[in-house]
Amino acid sequence: MTSRRLVLTRSAAVIGAASTGLLLPQIVRAQSDKVRVGFMLPYTGTFAQLGVAIENGFRMALNEQGGKLGGREIEFFKVDDESNPAKGIENATRLVQRDNVDVLVGTVHSGVQMGIHKVARDTGVLNLIPNAGVHIATRAQCAPNVFRTSFTNSQPTLALGKAMVDRGHKKAVWITWNYAAGEEAYEGFEKSYTAAGGTIVKKLGLPFPNVEFQALLTEIASLNPDAVACFFAGGGAAKFLRDFAAAGLNKNIQLYGSGFLTEGVLDAAGDAANGVLTTMHYSDSLDTPRNKQFRLDYAKTFRAQPDVYAVQGYDTGLLLIKGANAVKGDISNKKALYAAMEGAVIDSPRGKWTMSKAHNPIQDMYLRKVENKENKVIGIAAKAVADPATGCRMA
Ligand code: PHB
Repeated sequence: MTSRRLVLTRSAAVIGAASTGLLLPQIVRAQSDKVRVGFMLPYTGTFAQLGVAIENGFRMALNEQGGKLGGREIEFFKVDDESNPAKGIENATRLVQRDNVDVLVGTVHSGVQMGIHKVARDTGVLNLIPNAGVHIATRAQCAPNVFRTSFTNSQPTLALGKAMVDRGHKKAVWITWNYAAGEEAYEGFEKSYTAAGGTIVKKLGLPFPNVEFQALLTEIASLNPDAVACFFAGGGAAKFLRDFAAAGLNKNIQLYGSGFLTEGVLDAAGDAANGVLTTMHYSDSLDTPRNKQFRLDYAKTFRAQPDVYAVQGYDTGLLLIKGANAVKGDISNKKALYAAMEGAVIDSPRGKWTMSKAHNPIQDMYLRKVENKENKVIGIAAKAVADPATGCRMA
């Protein structure tokens, strides 16, 4: 909607200018001087909150720079991708061809990301991935114009297995949504858990974004493992936490997850989330001046607590600012822009991180425990975790 309104506003300005004749070139120049940033994020569905947090974080980083990129004003465009992979290419094409964005910021869902990825590779438009962890985007199909500020789907779970076995939980059931993010989170879990000596009793799944967990929870009860490990996120994660506790499973079975399980859902999950252990590249309770200031500023601006998605959106803004400042706003100077982004050290609320050669963060993974509606850090599960970037050759 916003993008349509902006387009209308612009053509109205041009028509108005045309009638006065002299003003036209000036107005056209002023408009094209703006950096055009497109958000392709979920604003409806199970990941709606994630999209909002990412956009908030991104805008916050830019507002800290006076709302400018390398000295240039910014014009925003928005598309709700609904976490619907079937519309991924069409939605990305809308931003790139119709709205002519310089930068596409998106998205959350790995399946939708594949649509954006095709458009980014075909057109060369700069794509900043503020969440979706789909491996191939920074592995075999890595690209000079695609940068990720979040994680690969197996990064958090590569830190999970050892933490579980260290706590004596050696027999686990895995459960997730059956799509790229769940499958790839499993890949990291399987590797780390079996390497640490754990046994995976059963792998369970359901289609995205279904939340009919009952039959699967009954099956878990009868398997009676030491632990359950999972990947869920957003509204579905809140429901899984509540259903797991309502079935009484949290009394005897320790629940673990890729940290998204407990991000942005702690109010909705209530007591059901208490004691859940997860691994993630961020924790609410990180005791650093950087994180504390970020949390204060975010809460003041948006009247909501930030989560990992807000941090990823914020870091996406920080990365783009580093690039745009290095080229003094001339983002058509792609070689210098990308070089600056590749060499950036991002001073994030999560801790400082750097960009791998495949354009994915190299970052620490924290072990966290939910206590009183907070993801409390209880240790570093793994230092400087880098995705293997298998098959990545930058053109
Ligand atoms: C993904 O689809 O890649 C995805 C979605 C939500 C998350 C994490 C990963 O929280």
